[in-house]
Amino acid sequence: MLLNDSSQINSYCNLAVLISGSGSNLQAIIDAVSSGDVQNAKVALVVSNNSNAYGLHRADKAGIPTVHIPSADKEKLLETLEHHNIDAIVLAGYLSLLPINVVSNYSGKIINIHPSLIPKYCGKGFYGLKVHQAVIEAKETETGATIHLVDEEYDTGKILIQEKIEVRPDDTAEILQKRVLEIEHKIIVKGIKMLVGGCEG
Ligand code: GRF
Repeated sequence: MLLNDSSQINSYCNLAVLISGSGSNLQAIIDAVSSGDVQNAKVALVVSNNSNAYGLHRADKAGIPTVHIPSADKEKLLETLEHHNIDAIVLAGYLSLLPINVVSNYSGKIINIHPSLIPKYCGKGFYGLKVHQAVIEAKETETGATIHLVDEEYDTGKILIQEKIEVRPDDTAEILQKRVLEIEHKIIVKGIKMLVGGCEG
């Protein structure tokens, strides 16, 4: 069947990726879209609440529009997402709660990645190395990463994907962070595919 132009446009999912820092997960998403591993989607916008986030350079390099919106500006985020016709949102290292109006307008269409096996080591204050330090201090034998839907709280929405790795006796928080990031870069792509599936129809 020959698709006309408008049906082709409608089958696309315009993603916004929200970041605060390095953006290595953003890079995994950009790579998966440009290699064709993720189809029918594009990263249409990158938003950072931190104007110095390195991920903003990654987005610039990929030709993706970027915008800095401070967390305190509760109205501008929804306006900006709507202005860019965003269908679904990925929180990829975004260290702030989303404004309620964004959560309710995009209900079921927002995912977050967290570097632990939720419900362990999550919630307010568990970010970055702190998560991995806590895992090591508790002498856990396994840890991992989680993709979940986003609601009004930190890290409490429905879990979509979890992947585990072993914690080795000689792991430091820094080593563990690197090893967990490797699996994050895989499951974020799986999460995007689920999100894009939800955009269609
Ligand atoms: C990742 O560990 C992610 O799970 C967490 O913040 C970190 C962001 O890393 N929410 P990056 O900016 O994608 O490199």
